[in-house]
Amino acid sequence: MLERNTIYCGNTFTLLNKIEDASVDLIVCDGPYGVTNEPWDQIPSIQEFNLALIEKFAQKLKEGCALYLFGKPDCIDFIDYRKFLNLRSKIVWYQPSRLAQGRISYTNNYDIICYFVKGERPKCYNLDAIRISQLVELEHRLRCENVPSVTNGKFGRTKYNPKGKNPGDVWGDIKQLTYKSKELVSRKALNTIQKPEKLIERIVLASSSPGDLVLDPFVGVGTCPVVCKRHQRDFIGFEIQPDFVKAASQRLHECHNNPDLPL
Ligand SMILES: C[S@@+](CC[C@H](N)C(=O)[O-])C[C@H]1O[C@@H](n2cnc3c(N)ncnc32)[C@H](O)[C@@H]1O
Repeated sequence: MLERNTIYCGNTFTLLNKIEDASVDLIVCDGPYGVTNEPWDQIPSIQEFNLALIEKFAQKLKEGCALYLFGKPDCIDFIDYRKFLNLRSKIVWYQPSRLAQGRISYTNNYDIICYFVKGERPKCYNLDAIRISQLVELEHRLRCENVPSVTNGKFGRTKYNPKGKNPGDVWGDIKQLTYKSKELVSRKALNTIQKPEKLIERIVLASSSPGDLVLDPFVGVGTCPVVCKRHQRDFIGFEIQPDFVKAASQRLHECHNNPDLPL
């Protein structure tokens, strides 16, 4: 069995066998997309690859717990994952700043994050921890308070939560990292891998609680372990490239020395 709060260097498919069944509270899977020239991203069929992962992850998750699987818009097309997990949302991570390079079709401006749950209902969805600003001007807000309810057609005051609103399933408020981002570990990490801490933080806060075990099967430079550490979640991480394991461990060490560092 594997130790908590450790990043293991090796192949995820081998290491997964060492995790006890029904022991994991959340899986954040930011693995191959099958779109870059990186050797680890050369996947003949990303859909079949993801299906194999989903089957394994379903065994490892506790009932009611969640998997977030990152990819391009077609990453789970034409595969039948329904016998393993329930797909509750396809979250669009919208990145409007990407260069629009397409010439013969529409440029892809988003990744998807497939939010799956084992079983019917999520065990944990901490909405208050991930609310975002309403950004509604007062006048518009007052007008909204007099529109018919979408559920029963009656007029009533729209519920307005001063703590903010549900982020919904299109996330355009979190920007991809740039060369200038303080949290960027290296230029190499930017091109293919490193995710913004805020993105992973939203997932970890929504779908786990302090003390829970979070599995990051493709650690990269350690964004998910760092977020887990800051928010008192335990983690187990896998990464095949030793230099990334080193970079992630270094980042964790820095975060340990400075636990109050804001995200
Ligand atoms: C998209 S990146 C993850 C980035 C990470 N979320 C971050 O913010 O740093 C995917 C990572 O998976 C690793 N990887 C790819 N295939 C693997 C495998 N079969 N086993 C373990 N790691 C693998 C790659 O080396 C790469 O670092």
